[in-house]
Amino acid sequence: CGIVGILGTKPVASQLVDALKRLEYRGYDSAGVATLDHGVMGRRRAEGKLQALELKLKDEPLPGNAGIGHTRWATHGKPTESNAHPHATDKVAVVHNGIIENFRELRDKLIAAGHKFASETDTEVVAHLVTDYMQKGKTPIDAVAATLKELRGAFALAFLFAGEDDLLIGARKGSPLAVGYGKGEMYLGSDAIALSPFTDTISYLDDGDWVVLTHTSASVRDAQDREVKRPIVKSSVSAQLVDKGNHKHFMAKEIHEQPEVVGHTLAHYIDMVGERVALPGKLPFDWTKLKRLSISACGTAFYAGLVAKYWFERFAKLPVEIDIASEFRYRGAPLEEGDLALFISQSGETADTLATLRYAKEMKQHVLSVVNVTTSTIARESDVVMPTLAGPEIGVASTKAFTCQLSVLACLALAAGRARGHLSETDEKNLVRALIAVPRLMSQALALEPQIEKLSHDLAKVKDVLYLGRGTSFPIALEGALKLKEISYIHAEGYAAGELKHGPIALIDETMPVIVIAPHDRVFEKTVSNMQEVAARGGKIILVTDPKGAKEATIESLETLMLPEMASTVTPLVYAIPVQLMAYHTAAAIGTDVDQPRNLAKSVTVE
Ligand code: G6P
Repeated sequence: CGIVGILGTKPVASQLVDALKRLEYRGYDSAGVATLDHGVMGRRRAEGKLQALELKLKDEPLPGNAGIGHTRWATHGKPTESNAHPHATDKVAVVHNGIIENFRELRDKLIAAGHKFASETDTEVVAHLVTDYMQKGKTPIDAVAATLKELRGAFALAFLFAGEDDLLIGARKGSPLAVGYGKGEMYLGSDAIALSPFTDTISYLDDGDWVVLTHTSASVRDAQDREVKRPIVKSSVSAQLVDKGNHKHFMAKEIHEQPEVVGHTLAHYIDMVGERVALPGKLPFDWTKLKRLSISACGTAFYAGLVAKYWFERFAKLPVEIDIASEFRYRGAPLEEGDLALFISQSGETADTLATLRYAKEMKQHVLSVVNVTTSTIARESDVVMPTLAGPEIGVASTKAFTCQLSVLACLALAAGRARGHLSETDEKNLVRALIAVPRLMSQALALEPQIEKLSHDLAKVKDVLYLGRGTSFPIALEGALKLKEISYIHAEGYAAGELKHGPIALIDETMPVIVIAPHDRVFEKTVSNMQEVAARGGKIILVTDPKGAKEATIESLETLMLPEMASTVTPLVYAIPVQLMAYHTAAAIGTDVDQPRNLAKSVTVE
């Protein structure tokens, strides 16, 4: 979804639509604007593309020099007009991007207090909560401050208040939000691209910040409501489609986008109200008839598939065969007619993956692909496409596409589990709740960045790094090693922790960092014993774990990266972030070309 807000000096409705056009790449199945005309709020919303909203505004123009707008890709509820943003009460209109995790509890409380809801969205709860505080006597600013403290999730918000022509409030927690400075005008937007027709003077909010705008001022507060200053920069976006925000590299920006794009992707596959998986569209096969699932992919996408194997086998008791596409295609693997072949690819153009897809089709398999570029060849040649909604990924080393692939694959595995009768409704609900928490947990993981940056300065000096993990943390160890070697050119290997004794232990000495990915899950103890073997040989351990894990690890002289506790199913999504950040900061410390590392290509269309 995309957000925009304007405190202007002339009518803003058409400007809002202009800005929304630039945000259409974030998804569009409905759109809407709300404006203030001498304190009176007006609102127009329409289903479908932005054009529908434009037509509506032509028939029923909306006066007013202040306003907010939104393009939506349906998350909670269908893409109908009543579910379209802005959501409003008689006091406040709200646009929102992201997920409010605890909206159900809040809604029940507000309904009990007499509030009437008009939509199925999580956003409407925000409008009512602010209204509730205002009815109890709080000013708009205080009402927003109080509301923000009650919301759990990862999101960006913009608020417009009836009767307040010189006030616009924005908030960011997990999803990006930029402030634009004009002459006697101020703006809010999901990115600088949305604001590029109006201004190139931009300030990016930090996570947890919120901002109070008037026509001539922007006062930024942090999560503790302390006034803070954020740098004001000249944005270089003009006709360009993507910008780096305040990051040095696209890769850094893409790592930081993950709470937003993962939230976006999950919302596409989950019915948030019913807390069930709801795959868009009909599948051309029956999960119960499948004997085997074959997954193939390359690079990072292959590791996403490796995680998915654990999920499909656990939740759906569906045997999974997974192979690197370049191996699969020449192996002549026998595939039984009518089984399912799954392909994972960011670009949708990887030659080896495409060749395997064609082979699977020849073998009369159902072909399902998880791709980021929906116009790609792999997408076009598949029977069914489950898109990742990561947005354009520019950095050659894949980051946000990976966690979006995991999001889609988790939903597919749950759908398979339900269809095959191996997941009770309660189990599914719990797993869906765990997934909904991921964007917030990812924001918390990103907060480890200063610590990771510091330790990356040491990593930048070494020659070899070993990554260890078990269960679904094993593919994350592999991905961590791949990320590091791709962009820092340091030799790295990922290993299943249990394999340590069968080879890599011979490499360990005081110079070799060993990064252990070990959430406190059911294989944690086993991983700790492997860690002890490393410690006994003087290896320098960096342990990525949670508070319980840290307490039980009982190893001296190790550096711990502490993530919050979470359901073990979702650990690969969240633990991907520290390993990405480690690779990124190590490469940045060395000074390599992070976004375009030597010898690598974003889309490998040769064998
Ligand atoms: C290249 C990229 C990787 C990517 C792999 C597979 O090697 O550098 O980041 O994981 O190709 O690409 P795909 O587009 O099929 O996901």
